[in-house]
Amino acid sequence: MTAVVTEPVDLRDGRAPLLITRPASSDALIDEAAFAAGDEYLPYWAELWPSAVVLARRVAAADLRGLRVLEVGCGLGLPALAAARAGATVVATDWSADAVAAAAGNAAAAGLTGSVTCVVADWRDPGPLVAAGPFDVVLAADVLYEARAVAPLLTLLATLNAPQVILADPSRATAEPFLAGATAVGWSITSTQAEDRPMVRVHELRRDGTAVPP
Ligand SMILES: C[S@@+](CC[C@H](N)C(=O)[O-])C[C@H]1O[C@@H](n2cnc3c(N)ncnc32)[C@H](O)[C@@H]1O
Repeated sequence: MTAVVTEPVDLRDGRAPLLITRPASSDALIDEAAFAAGDEYLPYWAELWPSAVVLARRVAAADLRGLRVLEVGCGLGLPALAAARAGATVVATDWSADAVAAAAGNAAAAGLTGSVTCVVADWRDPGPLVAAGPFDVVLAADVLYEARAVAPLLTLLATLNAPQVILADPSRATAEPFLAGATAVGWSITSTQAEDRPMVRVHELRRDGTAVPP
């Protein structure tokens, strides 16, 4: 059995911290056979990345009552839980079944199973994600760590047709072609730097050209 740790994450929303349980060591989960099987799979889901904390705090400060939210590459699910606490109905997705199980466990621990559904889904295959929609907002934290993600994520966003996307990224080089590609197909983008984690930027993409100031 994998050892786990539980850490409280203060969303700075005046509410109790969310408790996030994750494997104590993501290195212990590395599976060379899974890596070699074709997708170069690594258990990145098992870390709570700084972008997830920044995105969750951003979402926690919003009023999402009545909105339908999708998170892609959710890992442990923190932004999805924050969105649910802010009033949204959320579908949290990742291609890793282990990630989805961890996110579901975190949702249960937070008493949010009624508003967060955790589903295995690959962002390279928009069909099931479109079928789960429509969504008002798409969330993603630190999903642009490989160049191979750029084109499928742009295709997914175009196919989902949600009016708003909020993406947190730790200034990875791959974010630049993504943002350029999004601008080229008509997204209006507002980017802000996280106050306490200067490498992390929050990019808000809107379809209608009405980018909301931070
Ligand atoms: C760097 S981790 C970020 C996890 C989480 N969002 C966070 O910030 O803590 C990237 C996540 O994307 C997921 N991922 C990678 N490729 C994916 C794909 N093709 N479809 C869905 N999820 C994917 C990984 O399993 C992992 O959970």
